[in-house]
Amino acid sequence: MTKKIILDCDPGHDDAVALLLAHGNPEIELLAVTTVVGNQTLPKVTRNALSVARVAGITGVPFAAGAARPLVRGIEVAPDIHGESGLDGPVLPEPEIELDSRHAIDLIIDTIMAHEPGTVTLVPTGGLTNIAMAARKEPRIVERVKEVVLMGGGYHVGNWSAVAEFNIKIDPEAAHIVFNETWPVVMVGLDLTHQALATDEVAAQIAAIGTKPAKFVGELLDFFALAYKDAQGFDAPPVHDPCAVAYVIDPTIVKTVKVPIDIELTGTLTLGMTVADFRAEAPDDCTTWAATELDAPRFWNLVTEALENIGEVDF
Ligand code: BDR
Ligand code: CA
Repeated sequence: MTKKIILDCDPGHDDAVALLLAHGNPEIELLAVTTVVGNQTLPKVTRNALSVARVAGITGVPFAAGAARPLVRGIEVAPDIHGESGLDGPVLPEPEIELDSRHAIDLIIDTIMAHEPGTVTLVPTGGLTNIAMAARKEPRIVERVKEVVLMGGGYHVGNWSAVAEFNIKIDPEAAHIVFNETWPVVMVGLDLTHQALATDEVAAQIAAIGTKPAKFVGELLDFFALAYKDAQGFDAPPVHDPCAVAYVIDPTIVKTVKVPIDIELTGTLTLGMTVADFRAEAPDDCTTWAATELDAPRFWNLVTEALENIGEVDF
């Protein structure tokens, strides 16, 4: 049985790798891809998503653009990490597929409602604006999705402030909605994704594939490595977003712990913090999990195998 997912993303170097992993892994059925303002403006990340679709050779999957701004706050983008295009580094090919005419939230709702309850997993790898809006527009999706496996947050570490992570910090109100709904939420946060480092060995493993899509990923990671070194002092860049996809493919690669998690909305120093309460065993009605430990070699093998499965693509 394949695992059906909707990827809601803001490509973004690591979002691009997440999309390639989702497309190249045989256990994932990619039902739809939606975009949201985040790493760059909505037009930029949407174009990037369509370019990556061409790199991966994706056809027959609907792509739709969503929210152009967060629910309450102004737009914050991340050129220091992802460049002016949102996907600086490689030459981006002209998109070949057309955008779906629906708004992302309608594509999300239509897709979930068209499938059996408990079969569709939402995988957000950007701010949570689209997901929150979809839950408000059609509350029945909350009962219907299997789970929300999101990249965002962190219980011991922040990257956009001392205690807040980018995807949560840019739209904390949306995150508050998503974490407080009754659907299961798996938070694949920085504690986990900082274990997914694209070291020189990883770069060599990907380069050895020798295809154009693999070379594209190599160029993405080269840019990402320099940006992460300059902006945050990392010796190898953490490739966050595919960790959420990897969890869906094989939950044994990512250890999780059930723990109540809520979003700080009022703190002057802590806005957007994902507050996880580890003091006692989680109560029965807890619906949130935090990812804690990554099997990094198996994770990178999944990424490598996905690129091998994609094979050569002419773009
Ligand atoms: C997250 O922020 C974005 O810049 C990345 O794409 C990732 O989703 C990491 O904090
Ligand atoms: Ca992202």
